[in-house]
Amino acid sequence: MQVVHTIADLRAALRPFNAPALVPTMGNLHAGHLALVKAARPLGDVTVASIFVNRLQFAPHEDFDTYPRTLQADCEKLAAAGCDVVFAPSERDMYPEPQGFKVLPPPDLADILEGHFRPGFFTGVCTVVMKLFQIAFAEAKGRRTAVFGQKDYQQLMVIRRMVRQFALPIDIVAGPTERAPDGLALSSRNGYLSEAERAEAVQLSLALRALGRDALAAADDLQRHLPALEARAMQGLAARGWKPDYLCVRRREDLQPPQPGDALVVLGAAWLGKTRLIDNLEI
Ligand code: PAF
Repeated sequence: MQVVHTIADLRAALRPFNAPALVPTMGNLHAGHLALVKAARPLGDVTVASIFVNRLQFAPHEDFDTYPRTLQADCEKLAAAGCDVVFAPSERDMYPEPQGFKVLPPPDLADILEGHFRPGFFTGVCTVVMKLFQIAFAEAKGRRTAVFGQKDYQQLMVIRRMVRQFALPIDIVAGPTERAPDGLALSSRNGYLSEAERAEAVQLSLALRALGRDALAAADDLQRHLPALEARAMQGLAARGWKPDYLCVRRREDLQPPQPGDALVVLGAAWLGKTRLIDNLEI
């Protein structure tokens, strides 16, 4: 496995290949990321993982400075998962000058849910992902594939729409959420949890499950019942000491409030102590 740090070196490493399959990450890798790498392997002739903690998607009060940087351990895990090339640029390599040009996603998708609680987050994500696509795929001659985790459900949707609207010749592939045995969705931020918080953390996915069950039971008149069901789900977590940002049922197509007959997804984000966890569940 080759580890490269500059755009020029990545392009040189990829030149002999036709069909890169890219897994963008911010490092501190867990089994969820490695499953994405394994999913990427048969989709191209070279598997690339990027590791870059992208300042643009963090608000000033968020955890950019403390986000765990574990390059050595990440590389060992990636090698074992069959990754061919790791692209781990420094900030100076990625943003040699202030990134004045940005990709501005549409507010109807990017300013709701995660985007409402993390203003500017999806602009930062789209900008770095667009840049990673340019870096990894510009010289590809065959199929171009990028794999993203379904745990970041809204992120996946934003990226799919960006690719569609810019007519980028890239297949976006979703990898399912990997979970710990108790059901907690794997996340780099789980490492912030204390032992007691870790034991409690599964309650987010349990709350989403319960909300999903309630929503299906109220399917005949969901629009009328949903606000109360969502409020009850939030109150349930709050009573256990969480600070929920949102727990809600949306239609899968565009994450807007559901209309009768829509396919549904339950999404949630909540603070447990100083850690913000997100999860989702298609129902
Ligand atoms: O999901 C992530 O880890 C990040 O948002 C991504 C897609 C690597 C962009 O920085």
